[in-house]
Amino acid sequence: MGRYAHITGWGKYLPQRILTNTELAKSVDTTDEWIRERTGIGERRIASAKETTAMMAIHAAREAIEVADLDPQKIDLIIVATATPEYTFPATACLVQDALGASRAGAFDLSAGCSGFGYALATAASWIRSGMHNTVLVIGSETLSQFLDWEDRATCVLFGDGAGAVLLQGKDQPGGVLATVLGSDGSGGELLIIPGGGSKHPASAETIATKLHVIKMNGREVYRFATRVIAHAAREVTKQAGWTIEKVDLLIPHQANVRILDSAAKALKLSPEKIFANLEHYGNTSAASIPIALCEAIDADRVKPGDRVVMVAFGAGLTWAACAVEWSAPKHRAAPVQVALSRVRYGFFGLRSLLARLLRRIDALFSWLIDRIEGKRGGE
Ligand code: COA
Repeated sequence: MGRYAHITGWGKYLPQRILTNTELAKSVDTTDEWIRERTGIGERRIASAKETTAMMAIHAAREAIEVADLDPQKIDLIIVATATPEYTFPATACLVQDALGASRAGAFDLSAGCSGFGYALATAASWIRSGMHNTVLVIGSETLSQFLDWEDRATCVLFGDGAGAVLLQGKDQPGGVLATVLGSDGSGGELLIIPGGGSKHPASAETIATKLHVIKMNGREVYRFATRVIAHAAREVTKQAGWTIEKVDLLIPHQANVRILDSAAKALKLSPEKIFANLEHYGNTSAASIPIALCEAIDADRVKPGDRVVMVAFGAGLTWAACAVEWSAPKHRAAPVQVALSRVRYGFFGLRSLLARLLRRIDALFSWLIDRIEGKRGGE
C-alpha cells in the first residue's frame, strides 16, 4: 500500500507594523493609485528588529503544530524555504528546530526564491511517499524589508514580510499532495537577484556603496516569465494528479501581482472566485506568500475536505513550482488550554536549550583546565 503526504497543520505569522502605499509615497516617488493599479497591493507588513526570519518561522510553526495536535518530538524533518535567512549559516531551520524542541528532527534551509515553499512541499511529500520520513514541517519565512532599496520605487513597493507553515504527515489513506512540478531556467538568474553578500561579491565597503545587497529586478521580464509559467505549471501538475483544470476547486498562486493572477485565470479559463488573492494586504512575501494565503483560504472556508487545491509559484532562479493537493484536514483551531500547555512546553524546551549551551561551555572550560594541568605535568 502506498503512503500519502497529508497536510494536517497550518499556521502563519505576520508582523504588526502595516506600511500603506500612502505612507510609502511620502518617502519615494510613487502614489497609492499607481501601486494599486499596476500591482493590486494596498499595504504590506514590515518586521521589527525582533521579528526576524527565524522568530516568524517559529511562531508560524507552533501554530501549525497546535492545529495538528502533535508532539514536536515526532517531527522527522524541518525545511525552511527562505531567500532571507537569519544567517548564511547556521540554517534558520536549525534555530527553529531548537526553539520547537524537535529533538529528533533533521533541519535545513531551501533556497528557490519565491518558489521555495513549492520546492519544500514537493521535497517533504516525496520523502513521506518514499517512506523515509513520516512527519515533516515545511515553513516559508521572509524578512524582505531588510533587502530592499527603499529609494527604488520599482521594487520597494512590491515586497513585504511574514511567515507561513504546514505540517505534513504520512498516512495510508489516499489524498494529500498528489503531484508536484518543479522547474528552473538559470539563464534568467540576473533578472531577479541580490548580487552582494555571496562568495562572488562578499560584503565590503564597495558592495555597500554600490548597493549590491538589495534586490535588483527587471520587472518587465519577470512579469513576462510569470504570466507564461503560471498557467503552464498549473496545467502540468493538474494533469499529473489525474484532474482537469475545471475540476480544480481553488488555485492558490504566489502573491506577486494581481495582473499576473488575472492573466493566469484567463489563460486557464478559471473563474476569479477559484483564485485566492490576499496580496492587497501583504504584497509579495516570497516563499511565505503561499502558506500565508493557504491559512487565510482555510479561515475563509475556501478550502474544505475533499477539495482539489493547486498551488503555483514562480520566482528568482528563475524557478517555478506547482503542487496539487487533495485537501483532507477539517478546519480546526487549537483549544486555548492546548495553546497554554504548548507555551509551557516551549518554555521548558527554551530552558533545556539554555542548559545545553551552558553545559557546552562548562565542558569546554573543563577540557581547557585539564589540557593546562596535563601540559604542566608534561613540562615537569
Ligand atoms: N510608482 C510610480 N511609477 C513607477 C513605479 C512606482 N512604484 N515603479 C515604476 N514606475 C514607473 C517606471 O519608472 C516607468 O516609468 P518610465 O516609463 O518613465 O520609465 C513606468 O512606471 C512603467 O514602468 P514598467 O516597468 O513598464 O511598469 P509595469 O507596468 O511593468 O509595472 C511592475 C512594473 C514591477 C509592477 C511589473 O513589471 C511587475 O509586477 N513585474 C513582476 C515583478 C514581480 O512579480 N517580481 C517578483 C517575482 S517573484
